[in-house]
Amino acid sequence: MGLLDSKVCLITGAGRGIGRETARRFAEEGAILYVTDYLEGSLDPLIGELKEKYHTDVTPLYFDVTEESAAKAAIMSVKKGHGRLDVLVNNAGIMRDNVIGMIGQKLLHDVFDINVFAVINMIQLANKLMSRQRSGSIINISSIVGLEGAAGQLVYSASKGAVAALTKAAAKELAPNGIRVNAVAPGLINTGLLQAIGENKIQENLKNVKMGRLGEPIDVANVLVFLASDLSGYVTGEIIGIDGEATV
Ligand SMILES: NC(=O)c1ccc[n+]([C@@H]2O[C@H](COP(=O)([O-])OP(=O)(O)OC[C@H]3O[C@@H](n4cnc5c(N)ncnc54)[C@H](OP(=O)(O)O)[C@@H]3O)[C@@H](O)[C@H]2O)c1
Repeated sequence: MGLLDSKVCLITGAGRGIGRETARRFAEEGAILYVTDYLEGSLDPLIGELKEKYHTDVTPLYFDVTEESAAKAAIMSVKKGHGRLDVLVNNAGIMRDNVIGMIGQKLLHDVFDINVFAVINMIQLANKLMSRQRSGSIINISSIVGLEGAAGQLVYSASKGAVAALTKAAAKELAPNGIRVNAVAPGLINTGLLQAIGENKIQENLKNVKMGRLGEPIDVANVLVFLASDLSGYVTGEIIGIDGEATV
């Protein structure tokens, strides 16, 4: 018996990092999976692995989460394929940094389009299926910097702060429909997104993590299993930190 047996789950941005590890853990727990990513074919290795290791019923969907019609088509194919959606993990996200005075309009729009507006859009689409079945778990990925702020990360911090706020708002609105909405706020997690800031900066930031190590994608994926499963059946509107006791 897996914690997610027969639950239909959609994970955005599953090609690498936290999303890929979450797909692995969900598959291990018996989930039926829809995994999404941006680049056609990028999910092939993951699909092969999940089918071979766990015999997972897994479907890849390729689209840019900022494209409203493509996101709608993706949800429609979930509806057509399995007639329901139990779990949505809004994982796809980007981090683009610049100091105050150097923040351009493109950076601003790119970050908010993916990290905030696409998340709201996906919640609205998922709600259509989940409200009908009167159940569902929506999980968003905020960040420690969305709660605390970080110098040099005004836009990314603001976008992840918005994710925390919209999670709480959606939880209040959707609870009467049986839909739970929670978020996690990871600290320094060892993925490509983090590696992009460079080894020196990572080591500098690591000094502020009391557990003395980077988080691994599995550290996040395990909490997402809990939030997706019935173990968290009375948990909604929460932002769970996953940061090894870090300060920003
Ligand atoms: N790593 C950390 O320290 C950390 C900390 C706090 C929060 N987070 C959040 O955790 C989430 C996952 O981060 P990660 O570290 O796993 O990042 P990652 O390794 O960069 O993976 C991000 C994934 O999202 C996909 N993606 C990005 N933009 C997309 C778009 N417009 N449409 C569809 N897919 C898109 C990427 O696809 P491509 O491969 O095609 O680009 C990639 O598969 C993000 O929301 C991030 O902000 C990460």
